Amino acid sequence: MVMEYHNPVLLHETVDGLNIKPDGIYVDVTFGGGGHSREILKRLGPTGKLIAFDQDKDALENDIDDERFLLINQNFRFLKKFLRFHGYKTVDGILGDFGVSSHQFDVAERGFSTRFEADLDMRMNRDSNFSAYTVVNKYEEAQLRNVFSNYGELRSAAGMARLIVEKRQEEKIKTSEQLKNVLGRFLPAHKENKILAQIYQAIRIEVNQEIEALKEFLLQTNEVLESGGRISLISYHSLEDRLVKRYIRNGMFEGEPEKDVFGRVEVPFKAVEKFIIPSKEEIKENNRARSAKLRIAEKL
Ligand SMILES: C[S@@+](CC[C@H](N)C(=O)[O-])C[C@H]1O[C@@H](n2cnc3c(N)ncnc32)[C@H](O)[C@@H]1O
Repeated sequence: MVMEYHNPVLLHETVDGLNIKPDGIYVDVTFGGGGHSREILKRLGPTGKLIAFDQDKDALENDIDDERFLLINQNFRFLKKFLRFHGYKTVDGILGDFGVSSHQFDVAERGFSTRFEADLDMRMNRDSNFSAYTVVNKYEEAQLRNVFSNYGELRSAAGMARLIVEKRQEEKIKTSEQLKNVLGRFLPAHKENKILAQIYQAIRIEVNQEIEALKEFLLQTNEVLESGGRISLISYHSLEDRLVKRYIRNGMFEGEPEKDVFGRVEVPFKAVEKFIIPSKEEIKENNRARSAKLRIAEKL
């Protein structure tokens, strides 16, 4: 079940990055199939603790029967609130393996994959009433253009947005097939898969508010980590990685931190390594690993 649900990427590197103390308290904010969580539990002693988050109810099927473990079905943007709620003020390490699981991609009706015909959905949290349908059918043209341009880095963002707004007046765009037909002129056969993947990525990031959630989460890591505690975070696209990199370097997402009178800057983290990417062997065995980038940092 677990191996089918998701094959963990950079498993040992990411967990090594946490520098686990057997009696420490750790958080896995993207539980999924629990591959990383199981590896953390292996390295914890009897008094260690692991708290995991996943906003997708499907992940609850992989819950681990272990008294050191707690799985919370919530968005990691509420990290601090739910840690406090369960009685944890500070922790020793936080692991994040962002984006979508193989399970979410592989279940056709979730609507994440360009491989299947499905209703426009893409919600990780299916209690939300905000889906790909909402973005495609309700967003104003300028909002759609921004989504395609900012999150899909699509050169034809403006044309795509215009065409969607025009066509949806005739008929609502309810399925992946309809969306593909509407945008047909932007999908030349030799680039169809690549461009569709960019379109899907853009809509998915918007539906799940992935950038906002990541920023809110990163800012809280500083508040909940003990000094010397680690973050070990895997990103799968440059928008995410840029935020993680800048946060580790500067403690902020834009601009540069202010210097004090001695020209020193105060930043919350120190990078442990530049970054780690999967080996050729791992990518050969698990194609999903191909775009992964792991960054590890220690709280000062
Ligand atoms: C790449 S998978 C993680 C796989 C996991 N490391 C494993 O070994 O099986 C990402 C998981 O994080 C969850 N997720 C993504 N963004 C989230 C968020 N903002 N809050 C909570 N869970 C999130 C997804 O639902 C998905 O199950």
